[in-house]
Amino acid sequence: MEVVIVPDAESGGDLIAEAMARLLRQKPDALLGVATGSTPLPVYRALSARVRAGGADTSRARVAQLDEYVGLPAEHPESYRSVLRREVLEPLGIPMERFLGPDGAAEDVQAACEDYDRALATAGGVDLQLLGIGTDGHIGFNEPCSSLASRTRIKTLTEQTRVDNARFFEGDIEQVPHHVITQGIGTILEARHLVLLATGEGKADAVAATVEGPVAAVCPASALQLHPHATVVVDEGAASRLKLADYFRHTYAHKPHWQGL
Ligand code: GLP
Repeated sequence: MEVVIVPDAESGGDLIAEAMARLLRQKPDALLGVATGSTPLPVYRALSARVRAGGADTSRARVAQLDEYVGLPAEHPESYRSVLRREVLEPLGIPMERFLGPDGAAEDVQAACEDYDRALATAGGVDLQLLGIGTDGHIGFNEPCSSLASRTRIKTLTEQTRVDNARFFEGDIEQVPHHVITQGIGTILEARHLVLLATGEGKADAVAATVEGPVAAVCPASALQLHPHATVVVDEGAASRLKLADYFRHTYAHKPHWQGL
């Protein structure tokens, strides 16, 4: 995998937005896999700034969701569908007709998961999947010890993740659902390019385990080591426990510019 150390979250957002803009120039109807959480917000801001300035064209772009809470109605302000509509689709001018996501309110959750995996395949697969990372190394909602071959399915959140996410529910953990639908790790690995963004020292241990630890289900993000095109973008804080930080800085500084991410 390639590790790019950037000075701060904004530069990380800018770099990834440029990779997305470049992809859209090559493939205008690219399927962009997007993530929720606070970390990717600078990416969406930078991409929508490019769209407004005419530097990126999202007029045919498609967007796919990574994970969703189970049991929240789609119109609940904190359902990931609502969050993505607010933070990604509207700023990028992408209508819901070009959005793919699992049905978190479905009565038959298992069928909704299988339907979503099928819908992703029918759509031709995700071209670029943006990922954040949980403090425990989760990607999407694949908590530690998720099968590295898993498909989209229902998962039970750890207490830590519910505590981390309570800030989106007025700080009230009781409102955070216990169950979620998440693309499996095997599903995520099918995207053609994986881009993980991590910022802040709070993510430093998870990043070190992802990049320099063994491939192990205990750190789901370490599965990125199995992918032929995985990019990990980290700010100084998130890079602070990387033993090979100088090596990563050196290789990126000397990378041919035309290569992009
Ligand atoms: C949630 C999401 C993940 C995200 C993680 C980290 O659990 N399901 O996709 O990566 O939060 O969020 P943040 O970026 O806010 O730290």
